[in-house]
Amino acid sequence: KSSLPHARERTLIAVKPDGVQRRLIGQIIQRFEQRGFKLVGMKMLQVSVSEMNAFTMSVCNSSVTVDVSVVKVSEDLLSQHYSELRAKPFYPSLLYYMTSGPVVVMVWEGHNVVQTSRTMVGTTNPTEAQPGTVRGDFSTHVSRNVVHASDSLEGAKREIQLWFQGQELLNWDCCDQKSIS
Ligand code: TYD
Ligand code: MG
Repeated sequence: KSSLPHARERTLIAVKPDGVQRRLIGQIIQRFEQRGFKLVGMKMLQVSVSEMNAFTMSVCNSSVTVDVSVVKVSEDLLSQHYSELRAKPFYPSLLYYMTSGPVVVMVWEGHNVVQTSRTMVGTTNPTEAQPGTVRGDFSTHVSRNVVHASDSLEGAKREIQLWFQGQELLNWDCCDQKSIS
């Protein structure tokens, strides 16, 4: 087996609720497959926030107060996933958005997959995202930017462990003539 340093690099990619609702799952998967990356784990799930205080968010330039019954966000998946953003003003609306429908989480493997995926996904704010990137082709607003991609090797490792059990990640090889009997 190969022992190249980045041969087994993996990253977490998620199609966010707006991407699922807009039927973009297939197009996003297609981009990663055609680039040459290998899908080693995938599942669809609805994340729920068990506790969140009422918060105010901006919808179409007007303020809307969303009342969410009080339970705990602290131990839940999403608050760990976005732990470094907890103090940001957009954090409550980010949780609201991410729990507004199912997400598809995937683990992709390949050479420099973390950095290459960030390039393929485009900048956080779609206004600056290059055409040809997922965000540059499919989104207009930072709060509805369709897809998530881990931003570093350490982040990818942490996020994969958070979203997947070890046995949910599969090792497989390409078929070749030798395997056809
Ligand atoms: P971040 O990790 O900074 O971006 P990225 O997804 O590119 O790694 O932020 C996480 C998500 O938070 C981002 O995808 C969308 C949301 N967000 C906002 O809603 N408003 C903002 O101003 C920022 C910076 C992020
Ligand atoms: Mg990020």
